[in-house]
Amino acid sequence: MKILVVGNGGREHAITWKLLQSEKVQQVICVPGTGGTASMPRCRNLAMNVSDFEGTARFALVNGISLIVVGPEVPLAAGITDFLQSQGLNVFGPTKLGAQIEASKAWAKDLMHEAKIPTAKAAVFTAVDPALAYVRAQGLPIVIKADGLAAGKGVTVATTSEQAETAVQAVFKGKFGDAGQRVLIEECLTGQEVSILAITDGITIRPLLPAQDYKRIGEGDTGENTGGMGAYAPAPVVTPALMERIQQEILEPTIAALRDRNIDYRGVLYAGLMITPQGDPKVIEFNCRFGDPETQVVLPLLETPLDELLVACAHQRLAEQPAIAWKPGAAACVVMASEGYPETFQKGKVISGVDQAEVGGAMVFHAGTQSKPQGLITDGGRVLGVTAVGDSIDEALDNAYEAVKHIQFDGAYYRQDIGHQARRTKQKVGTESDSILPAT
Ligand code: AMP
Ligand code: GLY
Repeated sequence: MKILVVGNGGREHAITWKLLQSEKVQQVICVPGTGGTASMPRCRNLAMNVSDFEGTARFALVNGISLIVVGPEVPLAAGITDFLQSQGLNVFGPTKLGAQIEASKAWAKDLMHEAKIPTAKAAVFTAVDPALAYVRAQGLPIVIKADGLAAGKGVTVATTSEQAETAVQAVFKGKFGDAGQRVLIEECLTGQEVSILAITDGITIRPLLPAQDYKRIGEGDTGENTGGMGAYAPAPVVTPALMERIQQEILEPTIAALRDRNIDYRGVLYAGLMITPQGDPKVIEFNCRFGDPETQVVLPLLETPLDELLVACAHQRLAEQPAIAWKPGAAACVVMASEGYPETFQKGKVISGVDQAEVGGAMVFHAGTQSKPQGLITDGGRVLGVTAVGDSIDEALDNAYEAVKHIQFDGAYYRQDIGHQARRTKQKVGTESDSILPAT
């Protein structure tokens, strides 16, 4: 079977890497892929834009592609799945209507209210004055969100009125482009955040291992939001009992509500959750795709061949699949970024030491790199996701940080505290981190 993967981040590198472990997968073609996928055996990059739906369809039809896996939200929200399906192709990734669950936070809130899914209280505004009046009436802290896609940067958790008002004004001044037509003003939730990536064929929905992601640029979860600076899985805060509640109170009702709106959703439903101090799961946001870097820590632990799961979703046969099997242990990913990210940064810096990091057992997923005659160079804000597994979260984190030491490029920045909650939780509750792993 030949599979085409759309996207060029660490997530798509991890998806490709996992697909290639399956005996049934002959070749993976990445559109456009990264410096990492360029050098993998049985894999090739196709220099085509992710928005070139026609080119992608033509290539897939001529080359007998069995499945197209769409990584990023932008082509999904623009309708890549609708187009490819109309050409008779099998796609893992929701249609344009389904992708609204990420592309419009107001639409997603409405769906959650309708389906009684636990989430932060919110109000939506289309003009600045009523929005500011509402902010003043609510008090602090408060969360301001631009409605549409803003690459994870349209959210401000404001602790002062000045911050809140500046954030509201920025949205209406068009700081987030199309995402600036509407603003959501939301109650600020507290607790631990977890990412639940669940795969679905539109009827059946199954969660993957829970992961925890580090969105802020600075240590101690400070500074600006980024695409994600690191992750680990499984997140011990999600016990088997809590996962069952998430399934019953969030995942199942969401898929049912999508079906009620005649949306045939086949792909990943990513639920970003806050686990409140009372232990209740509440939705912060939904995404319509695999998380990045969460995918880099979930897939290394997956025992079931990934292609089987994704094909079953695309063909609406997930219910026939046996339970998803997992490897014991944990995985951790430390993102190495370019100095200045998420604001301005330089590209084109030569990267060394990736091979040495991999010899030690790490998997180095490329987020923003290019292969050039002079070697591998940086080509993005997030550059590499250095991932390792271990018997425990602590060991996986130690192994990932050990691998990071081998890698160098001018201006490399990474957070030193990835996994801090898990290390703390582990100290408090002994070996609970292992308890959500199914017996093997
Ligand atoms: P989002 O793009 O919606 O995931 O938001 C980015 C980040 O902002 C989240 O990962 C949270 O850390 C934070 N955030 C968003 N909404 C809330 C909320 N209602 N309460 C507290 N933090 C939030
Ligand atoms: N890591 C956050 C995201 O994928 O949206």
